[in-house]
Amino acid sequence: MTRSPVTVTVTGAAGQIGYALLFRLASGQLVGPDTPIRLKLLEIPQAVKAAEGTAMELTDCAFPLLHSVDVTDDTRQAFDGTNIGLLVGARPRTKGMERGDLLEANGGIFKPQGEAINAHAAEDVRVLVVGNPANTNALIAQAHAPDVPAERFTAMTRLDHNRALAQLAAKLGVGVDEIRRLAIWGNHSATQYPNLFHAEVGGKTAADLVEREWMRDEFIPTVAQRGAAIIEARGASSAASAANAAIDHVHTWVNGTAEDDWTSAGVVSDGSYGVPEGLISSFPVRARDGRYEIVQGLEIDEFSRERIDASVQELVDERETVRSLGLV
Ligand code: NAD
Ligand code: LMR
Repeated sequence: MTRSPVTVTVTGAAGQIGYALLFRLASGQLVGPDTPIRLKLLEIPQAVKAAEGTAMELTDCAFPLLHSVDVTDDTRQAFDGTNIGLLVGARPRTKGMERGDLLEANGGIFKPQGEAINAHAAEDVRVLVVGNPANTNALIAQAHAPDVPAERFTAMTRLDHNRALAQLAAKLGVGVDEIRRLAIWGNHSATQYPNLFHAEVGGKTAADLVEREWMRDEFIPTVAQRGAAIIEARGASSAASAANAAIDHVHTWVNGTAEDDWTSAGVVSDGSYGVPEGLISSFPVRARDGRYEIVQGLEIDEFSRERIDASVQELVDERETVRSLGLV
């Protein structure tokens, strides 16, 4: 059965993630192979021409599901009727640059985008912020969309989740699909905490299947610093893997998680696990009926508590910084 089209807005469409993302969206991988798609590409004026070039290529693919592609530098127009907003456009971190430096540079982008989503997006709009610092950028956008339920604003930690799956699978010599209930907690930054104490492989707790030293000294830093390692190696931040994770995030949001599993996403905290209410922090989440819900009732051991607290503190500090800049 063919469904009615979904309108998807991609900001930063002429960037490297945009180029890795758009063709997959147009081929039907975002929500499912029966849903036609209308693409709206937002760029800054200097990059509109490049986005138009990508739009020409999208047309040339003759994707059966692609209804239309519009390119604009007008934020209002870009979010008119949007069902799914992929907020990718931001200034990527370059070699040697700290994430904190990005707050001021990027904060201004997400305020007008939040306002435009509030005023013009569809009732059921869902937003994924990819552009860094993703959690706090999502917080800024959400703060400027008071008529949209806060839970519809999310930040991407699915790439971290996928990285953690891949590292653990390689260590244990298992397939990634044999791992359940892994989760990233906190910020999409080097302080993030990939937690193996609830993760299961073949019915056993993953933390018991690996040496504690490996978990502490190799696994956690490798996952948490993977973004920086990719920048070091490629001379540019991750693009295809980030696009892939964005698709995973939305696909799961719309289609749900498996009964015995969960995933990771930056979602608005309701105070669960001592994470201050209102912060957009990564948690283990289940998707049901088109909503992400924080998995409740998990026991947090001391090792994990310390790491979650440190990452959450970084989010608190980021919120303070953007508050002082008048951005939330
Ligand atoms: P890029 O520099 O290649 O592209 C960014 C694009 O955004 C550019 O084309 C630029 O013109 C555009 N842009 C800037 N301001 C804009 C605005 N106000 N409206 C619309 N477009 C705007 O960067 P990229 O490699 O595509 O990465 C994009 C962002 O994603 C970066 O912030 C990067 O750090 C982040 N990222 C996040 C994750 C994650 O896991 N959350 C992973 C990888 C990258
Ligand atoms: C990543 O995790 O690959 C990116 O967020 C890195 C970055 O800072 O752009």
